[in-house]
Amino acid sequence: MRKRLTIHSLLKMKQERNAISVLTAYDYPSAKLAEEAGIDVILVGDSLGNVVLGYETTIPVTVDDIVYHTRSVARAAAHTFIVADMPFLSYGASREATLLNAARIMQQGGAQALKLEGGAEIASDVEALVQAGIPVMGHLGLTPQSVHQLGGYKVQGKTEKDAQKLMEDALALEKAGAFSIVLELVTEPVAEAISKALTIPTIGIGAGRACDGQVLVYHDILQYSSPYFEKKFVKTYADIGTTIRGAIESFVGEVKTHQFPAEEHVFQPGSSSPAALYGGGAAEAGEQQSASGKSQRKEVPLT
Ligand code: KIV
Repeated sequence: MRKRLTIHSLLKMKQERNAISVLTAYDYPSAKLAEEAGIDVILVGDSLGNVVLGYETTIPVTVDDIVYHTRSVARAAAHTFIVADMPFLSYGASREATLLNAARIMQQGGAQALKLEGGAEIASDVEALVQAGIPVMGHLGLTPQSVHQLGGYKVQGKTEKDAQKLMEDALALEKAGAFSIVLELVTEPVAEAISKALTIPTIGIGAGRACDGQVLVYHDILQYSSPYFEKKFVKTYADIGTTIRGAIESFVGEVKTHQFPAEEHVFQPGSSSPAALYGGGAAEAGEQQSASGKSQRKEVPLT
């Protein structure tokens, strides 16, 4: 079984030019599959507001939401480094509130690190969290919690002044003790300059090829949404939205036409114990672990 990465191994990955893979996950099955697939870091992002909870922005996401989702991710991914977002205004209002909210996400959620949006203006919060023993990931560029102030979801760092500000913010976060910084929707040359200037790894999302790692949103790479939606900085690795809709359409159709349940799905007197078909009976029911760690189910004989 592989060992969970640490902030020190992530730093070493940058030094060895070993690219860091980060994916968001928000629940048990998404985290389980991400871990089985070998992801380096799972981010319980407040993007859960958009992709899971149906909000238009990340602003309504609460500490309770993050704790709840982080807890299910932590149960699934015991061997993966888990970073959880501190949601909108759960930091920055007062030092005490920042520390208490952070404590909840670490203790009740089970994250190994927290991510905060913002630059020099939150450096003292970052410093306080690091002093309290909490690893902090920064987040610069397009910071969705400030979408209204930024005037929309726009690429950042396009002017000399913006690029300079991003560099100063990145250096301030590193100085405050952040172990890594997400760069979101930042032009490639600016992200490259920042990645070269920092000793800590940068993790890009729509920030080009020179970052030390890449992060994407689970639902984006899998098209786990409706309608099908492409973004320039995302690659679709599978279209499970279409697959799921098709499967549900088949179920609906088979129920309506009485094709489901069929003979093999029903119990007759003398067939095998139903207990073996549920939850704790997974092993009896035939769940097998392949050498690659992939879980495979085989059919359960009924007699
Ligand atoms: O909330 C999130 O998922 C994020 C990533 C997009 C970096 O912050």
